[in-house]
Order: sequence, then C-alpha cells, then structure tokens
Amino acid sequence: MNIKPSFHGSDLEKVAEYYHIPRDKIVCYSANVNPLGLSEHLKDLLCQNLDILSSYPDREYRSLRMHAARYCNTSDEYIVPGNGTTELITLAISVLGPKHALLLGPSYSEYTRELTLAGCSYKSYYLKKRQDFRLDMDDFLKTLSEHPEVDFIILCNPNNPTSSALTVDEIRILLKTCQKHNVFVMIDETYCEFSPKNISAVPLVVSFKNLLVLRGLSKFFAAPGLRLGYGVTSSPYLLRQMREVQNPWSVNSAAAFAGEVLFDDTSYIGNVRSLIEEERSRMMRELSSWKNIRLYPAYANFILIEITKPHTTSYDVFEYLIQNHLMVRDCSSFPGLDGEFIRFCIMLPKENDRLLQHLKTFLET
Ligand SMILES: Cc1ncc(COP(=O)(O)O)c(C=O)c1O
Repeated sequence: MNIKPSFHGSDLEKVAEYYHIPRDKIVCYSANVNPLGLSEHLKDLLCQNLDILSSYPDREYRSLRMHAARYCNTSDEYIVPGNGTTELITLAISVLGPKHALLLGPSYSEYTRELTLAGCSYKSYYLKKRQDFRLDMDDFLKTLSEHPEVDFIILCNPNNPTSSALTVDEIRILLKTCQKHNVFVMIDETYCEFSPKNISAVPLVVSFKNLLVLRGLSKFFAAPGLRLGYGVTSSPYLLRQMREVQNPWSVNSAAAFAGEVLFDDTSYIGNVRSLIEEERSRMMRELSSWKNIRLYPAYANFILIEITKPHTTSYDVFEYLIQNHLMVRDCSSFPGLDGEFIRFCIMLPKENDRLLQHLKTFLET
C-alpha cells in the first residue's frame, strides 16, 4: 500500500531526505518565518559581543524584561522570558494545572500535545469554513456556558493555520465572561506583529488576571534558532510560579542579548511590516482572481487556500510543488480542516512570484 508521508511546516530536513533534494535547494514556504532573515544590525553586534557567552545571563533578566516591556508597551513586572514560546506553553500548563480545556480548532498542534502530557482533557471548538474561519463569539460563549467544567481556554491570534484573527473588543468580551467563571485564557500571539490591524491582547493584561499572552521572536524576527519567547501576565500566582518552576538561565546569554537588540531595532521592524503588508495585499489580489481555489482572509504572514480543482488533493499540490523545490504546508494533518487545504507563508517578492506561477500552472492544467 502506498502511504502518503506527512510533514510539519518545519520538517525541511525530512522533506529533503524523502524527495532526495538538497536542503539548500528547497524554498521553505511552510515554516512561517519572515524572509528578511536575521537583522544585520544584530549580526554585527552579536559578533562583537561573543564574550557574553562566558558569563551566565542575569537570572532575573531585568534588562531583557525592560526592553520587551517597552516594545509591547506594558510593565516589565508582567514579563516572563522563556526558551521560545514553546517552553512558556509547557510552563503555563504545568503551573496552572487545568483539568478541562476548550481550544479553537483547527490550530497549532503543540497545545493538545502539552495538555495531553499534563493529563488535561480538552474539547475543540471548530472554526467554520462558511464563516471564513472567523470566530462567532456568541456561539463560542454559548458553547462555553454549556461546559461549566472548562477552566482553561487556548487561542492563537492570528490563528495558525487559518490566518484568521480576533479583534481586541472580542477578546475583551471573552475575558469578562471567563473572569466571572474562573476560566484562565492563554493567547498565543506568535504571529501578531504581522497583522495589518492591531489585535494584540497585551493592553488587556493590566485589567485581567486570568490572561497570559505569549509572544516569540522566532517568526517576526526570523530567529527560531535563538529560542526566545516571553509571556505577559498580571496574574501574581502565574508570575511567581512560572519563575519558580522554570529552570534557571533557561534563556541563554546570547538570546537575552539578541532580544534586547531586536526589540529596539525599529528600522528592521518597519521593514518587516511593510514587506509583509505589501506582499500579502499583492498576493491576495492575485489569488482572488483564480479559479480552482477558495481564498480565506489573512491576518498573519501566511495564506490558507482551499483547492477546489476536481479530483485534486492538497497532497497532489504539495508533491507537484516540492518536485519544483517549493515546500508548502499540506494541511491534511490538521484536525477540523474539512477539505483540501494548503498554507504558505509570504516570502520575498521574487519567491512569491515563483510560487504563484507554479501553483497557477498546476491548478489550471
Ligand atoms: C502558533 C505557534 N506558536 C508557537 C510556535 C513555536 O514558537 P517558538 O519558536 O517561539 O517556540 C509556533 C511554531 O510554528 C507556532 O506556529
């Protein structure tokens, strides 16, 4: 029997080996990392300051927390640095010890993995295709009221893989209801800075102690190898416990140094934002005129499309593109995505043109 392989967005090595393509010949549209690469300013400063590796980082990360707080306009008291968003997801779940979680689906698979490891049961509320994967907040709150056992909610905003987003007003409504019913809300804002509108829940942290916002530098700052993330919360319990349970020096000195530089690098930040905004608008305009696909609104640096060409699966599209050395995400492994979906991130204009060209050729022949 011919079993189709399944690859995650960052499985570049696995894909290269399986298809016998040199890794550096593959353009990766599936890892959702900003295509500008690491800031040149940071590279220079890191080279000049390599001696920081000879000392332990400040155990309290005072300076890093101050830079992160200024970057997202909050108090440094509310910041918990971590070894990527991933460590903070694990820490938050282990410290809060939820029993019954409600998640939006389809979404990033790490949440269910962590909940399962922590012995927490979960239920998924699926975003609907006919609503362009936008959350119907009234219906979600109704579902919540039907499940009084729920003590924990995880949202990803903008959501991976749908690229749909919640507004700050919608999040506020949800937080008020959750506050009344002692439900803790964790919002993963890994892709938030790519959004054309300001959708961050960080300004709500000061008013809601039942909120943890997670941010990372992997995608927007093109630094997944640094392993740097930060949580923002005003919950005294969570702040104390996360610091207590976290391994000391979990963020290494180079990452802490790099974070301080990146949060202040306004010219790089501006360049990333304008590249993504321009390319997203241009690609969405182009895709909206295509036959054989359905296009969904995009708030992150990636676009989700549904393949509607008869007798064509998302895996067929993936295979055709990888033969041309272009790696997109075949979304068939996301529970709750009913149909043939692929996701690809926004790269440099030339690379975006190359992808669109190949995709169009495949879909129209
Ligand atoms: C929604 C989401 N959250 C978190 C992560 C992991 O982030 P980090 O590299 O900061 O651990 C990813 C990686 O793909 C992601 O898509």
